Amino acid sequence: MIGAMIIAVDGSAASGKGTLSKRLADYFSLAHLDTGSLFRALALQLLNAGTEIDIIDEIQVIEESAKLDLGLCSVPEIRTDKVGSLASKVAILPEVRTNLLTLQRNFANNPPHGNGAVLDGRDIGSVVVPETPIKLFIDAKLEVRAERRFKELLHAGHSVIFRQVLAEMRKRDQRDRNRSVAPLRAAGGAKIIDTSTMDADKVFAVALDHVKHIVGT
Ligand code: DC
Repeated sequence: MIGAMIIAVDGSAASGKGTLSKRLADYFSLAHLDTGSLFRALALQLLNAGTEIDIIDEIQVIEESAKLDLGLCSVPEIRTDKVGSLASKVAILPEVRTNLLTLQRNFANNPPHGNGAVLDGRDIGSVVVPETPIKLFIDAKLEVRAERRFKELLHAGHSVIFRQVLAEMRKRDQRDRNRSVAPLRAAGGAKIIDTSTMDADKVFAVALDHVKHIVGT
């Protein structure tokens, strides 16, 4: 393969795309960007500034997205369902997407280390780096994903109710799939992997096989 390797991994919430992306990055010595953490960081920045989850001031959201505090991408608070939900609401705004797009493209084209980059998100293969030939789309049944998220949240010490996690995930799916700008969908040429009945090792094996096939090794 000529040039740096860029792997685009898109998929629904709790589909297993994050785990897979980290493993691919380790395997090929690539830098990894979880692009959802940018949208989550923006959501947390807004909550810290006093935003109410149901009352969104678009002007304020756009202004905050232009001065995103990247330090927030690594704080544990961004992993709550409240932050995920607000992240998917602000991700609908075209100006927000444009502001965060620059950061994502810079990372893909000038990764901080390694031989290239793995980016995971919702529109990586379709919008952020449509030129890469290596695209994966990871999905699983809603109930399976809600169960995974429920266990993750319990494990992290949050007190959660399964029914609420399921309802929240259903709403987030609808927003991510139906928004007019960069909706969640498999990019042309993406390898679609349904992880409903697969463990992480199996998902990695299927994905690796596809990547090697594309790069010709
Ligand atoms: O992958 P995640 O659950 O951490 O993402 C949180 C939200 O951020 C998701 O519901 C929609 C938004 N997002 C997006 O619109 N585009 C991306 N590339 C990544 C995330």
